[in-house]
Amino acid sequence: MSKRVYEKPLLRKLETGFLNKFGASPAYARRVREEIDGVPIATLVEQFGSPLYLFSERRLRARARRLREAFAQRYPNVELAWSYKTNYLRAICAVLHGEGALAEVVSAFEYEKARGLGVPGERIIFNGPLKRRAALERAVAEGARINVDHLDEVSDLEALAAERGGGKPIEIGIRVNMDTGIQPQWSRFGFNLDSGQALDAVKRIVAGGRLRIRGLHAHIGTFILAPEAYGQAAAKMARFIGEVREQCGVEIEDLDLGGGFPSRSRLKGTYLPPDMAIAPIDDYAEKVAEALYANLPAGVFPRLLLESGRAVVDEAGYLITTVWAAKRLPDGRRAYVLDAGVNNLFTSFWYKFQIEIDREVRGLNEAAMLNGPLCMNIDVLDEAAQLPPLERGTRLIFSPVGAYNVTQSMQFIEYRPAVVLVGSAGQVELIREAEDLTDIERRERLPERLRLDP
Ligand SMILES: Cc1ncc(COP(=O)(O)O)c(C=O)c1O
Repeated sequence: MSKRVYEKPLLRKLETGFLNKFGASPAYARRVREEIDGVPIATLVEQFGSPLYLFSERRLRARARRLREAFAQRYPNVELAWSYKTNYLRAICAVLHGEGALAEVVSAFEYEKARGLGVPGERIIFNGPLKRRAALERAVAEGARINVDHLDEVSDLEALAAERGGGKPIEIGIRVNMDTGIQPQWSRFGFNLDSGQALDAVKRIVAGGRLRIRGLHAHIGTFILAPEAYGQAAAKMARFIGEVREQCGVEIEDLDLGGGFPSRSRLKGTYLPPDMAIAPIDDYAEKVAEALYANLPAGVFPRLLLESGRAVVDEAGYLITTVWAAKRLPDGRRAYVLDAGVNNLFTSFWYKFQIEIDREVRGLNEAAMLNGPLCMNIDVLDEAAQLPPLERGTRLIFSPVGAYNVTQSMQFIEYRPAVVLVGSAGQVELIREAEDLTDIERRERLPERLRLDP
């Protein structure tokens, strides 16, 4: 029998039996998960290493279908557009394009990715506040829907139209923002509806004669817990469609409501668990459909576009990580060093993830701080996760982490890990290899004079 390491005894205030207004955490309550979509965690780590991102194709397709159905049951003309920034792994985009989604991109780089995957220009929605000249030129030539963010972009597009000649106007959409009764109000993008700025912009564009407005776009924020906010946005946009029709003769074909629907994640500071805090997607669809029928001009049914990101992919994504060390902090807290940190789960600054363990563990739960590998004080995945005593080698499974974490993951101190997709038939496919030094240094140049002598 190996000798046990001495651990200093510790006196702690007994905290059992108190009413816990944040929700009880019974001493033995824990979630054990030995597999994902039928594939054992142990096999996955053995094959692809730890940490490891994993996506479930089945869940991804189901979420996309559920979202579309919720709206299509209530409104005749609905299309999904996949928000690339939420997760632009090629395999993820391909699954969603296979489900019929258009591509929603916000940069030349994302545009290139969509085209590289074979998405035709006409099925790309090009948003964002900074679209460089070359990117605009390409998007115009390929027939993408460009949603204009500001008047400088109007000038850029007008100049392009003038150079193209032929008198054919460039078809565009305009982005608007508005008060929808929630805070913070996203007012940085597009033209404000409430102040009349958007109407002025439409008049200015119509007067210019080189652009034709076809679409109206808004994205009111992200992880919006109030379905009513979408009702307000849809109502205001629908009325605006009537207004520009009457006042400027503009016929809007596309009403794009952006994304922002919540996934079943838990925003830090929320008292209620996701199942109680988050309304079903049908409630959102109901508010939108009601508002459209009540406010669109009679007989007008523009195509309703939804650029949902996190509500589609978040719950399809998991991160498997491994306990590297167990510690006791000077204030008595339990802490663990994990092999994944904020470099892999950037959104842990805002979300408290569900954490499952890959095996049954004996012992009482204790609030534990979960630290990553970064040797930086900010590298904390959870300040107080209720966990039993964990040994080195125990796997923790974080979810839902499919939205924004892969795209925002950093090559900071550690390489980025592999990503696998578990296919609908249970097959496991590598969709991004784990990185090595060549990925990090490929673009670097070391001046000859600085080379160290061997
Ligand atoms: C224009 C636009 N559309 C869609 C999205 C996707 O948002 P979400 O992931 O909250 O659905 C974003 C994200 O910020 C966005 O900026």
